[in-house]
Amino acid sequence: MGREFIPLFDDWAEFYENTVSGLDIEYREVFENYDKILETVAIKSNNTVLEFGVGTGNLTEKLISLGRVVYGVEPSKVMREKTKERFKDLHLYDGDFLNFPELRGKVDSIVSTYAFHHLTDEEKDTALKLYSTLLGDQGKIVFADTAFVNEEHREEQHRIVKEQGYENLFADLKREYYTTLEILERLFEKNGFQVSFEKMNSYVWLMEAVRVSKI
Ligand SMILES: C[S@@+](CC[C@H](N)C(=O)[O-])C[C@H]1O[C@@H](n2cnc3c(N)ncnc32)[C@H](O)[C@@H]1O
Repeated sequence: MGREFIPLFDDWAEFYENTVSGLDIEYREVFENYDKILETVAIKSNNTVLEFGVGTGNLTEKLISLGRVVYGVEPSKVMREKTKERFKDLHLYDGDFLNFPELRGKVDSIVSTYAFHHLTDEEKDTALKLYSTLLGDQGKIVFADTAFVNEEHREEQHRIVKEQGYENLFADLKREYYTTLEILERLFEKNGFQVSFEKMNSYVWLMEAVRVSKI
């Protein structure tokens, strides 16, 4: 599970860079400050990094330029090919948030941008449980993704997007598993992480979670 949206990404790969640079008006606010968001995630990571949902490799580029050792996991073949073209020596695997090759060494950070919402809340819980066993004490998860503060905020945001006439974005917000900060906080804490959230634009929140206790 969690791989049901991959055909969308195989199709999106060709014009993904146009979307993140703001050419698609419906997604302009979602990708506002895109570069800064990726940079912030990269800066907060440490040493050896496992990256999920690498897409075309934009976060990967930031991580490499900071000297991180990156292990990338991406389920879309078309996206993987694009990233592989950019970084020939990258360790890049076919996989997803829940199923990925076993890594030999230890991982210091797990990062991802614009992707965790492809898992249902139940799958997010399973993923965080898995990551708490992969990361040592003080190991970190740094994610940036669209989330709502709570259910009232979700309803209000849906209302605004509908009013704007952004049909594609509206369908996406209803189809994929965007969750709330309330739920995310509970899931991170349940799995032994201390989490903080920082608003990056009207949609995206930075989530920085440090592993503080064994579960
Ligand atoms: C919106 S793109 C984000 C790409 C890149 N991280 C960025 O910030 O530009 C979402 C990526 O997540 C990948 N994806 C979809 N389902 C996934 C899953 N279950 N596990 C990991 N990645 C997934 C897609 O193939 C796509 O490459």
